[in-house]
Amino acid sequence: MRKKLKQLCEEEAGRRKSEVRNRTSYFLLLTSILGLLTACGGTKKSPPWEYMPNMLETTSLKAQEWPMRTPPAGTVPRGFTAWAFTKEEGEKAASIPNPLPITKEVLLSGQKSFNTYCIVCHGERGKGDGFIVPKFPRPPSLQSDKIKGWADGQIFHVITRGQNLMPSYATQIRPEDRWAIIRYVRALQRAGAPTPEDVETLKKQLKEGKVL
Ligand code: HEC
Repeated sequence: MRKKLKQLCEEEAGRRKSEVRNRTSYFLLLTSILGLLTACGGTKKSPPWEYMPNMLETTSLKAQEWPMRTPPAGTVPRGFTAWAFTKEEGEKAASIPNPLPITKEVLLSGQKSFNTYCIVCHGERGKGDGFIVPKFPRPPSLQSDKIKGWADGQIFHVITRGQNLMPSYATQIRPEDRWAIIRYVRALQRAGAPTPEDVETLKKQLKEGKVL
């Protein structure tokens, strides 16, 4: 009986020993694998192994390229009002009045935008003698009787939709800035052909020191 008990105890001790040995070798194997995976130093001959490449490799975009998220079809930016007339419907656009008042602020802002966007082709006074001419075909004068007779909405239409060689400026100039440009173009037209009363008013204001 005792012999049997002793034998059993020895067997159990042996089993435990081999279990511990197994565990140790398993641990050593695991650490060496981890060590291999994370090993660094020395000169690498191949590119590093990427564990989660989806975070490292994003689609590359060039400067000025369309942003990653395209707006869903049929949506418009906030505050956007569509111009109701097609390119050929310039005459219908005459019915849309200029929403801006004639104030010094509006005229100065219109001057700034005109000198930024229109001056290159149309020239400082809108006579069609911009810096780009004659490399670019000379545009018609904005001082013409034709444009003087146009409604503000028709000029807005040309800036928005473009006309023959002149491209559309809808994506570059905000609607309120387009209306301000038109107020300034009217001021250029008036300054280009002042009435005798205009000349008198100007002389008076010059004397009073009211002119810029
Ligand atoms: C790249 C040069 C260029 C720029 C910049 C440009 N235009 Fe023009 N514009 C033209 C040309 C060229 C025409 C004549 C188009 C045609 O043949 O019908 C024209 C025509 C026009 C007309 C109609 C004239 C007419 O007699 O039919 C108006 C009004 C006008 N432009 C206003 C503007 C305003 C305002 C701006 C600034 C927002 C502007 N343009 C910017 C080149 C330009």
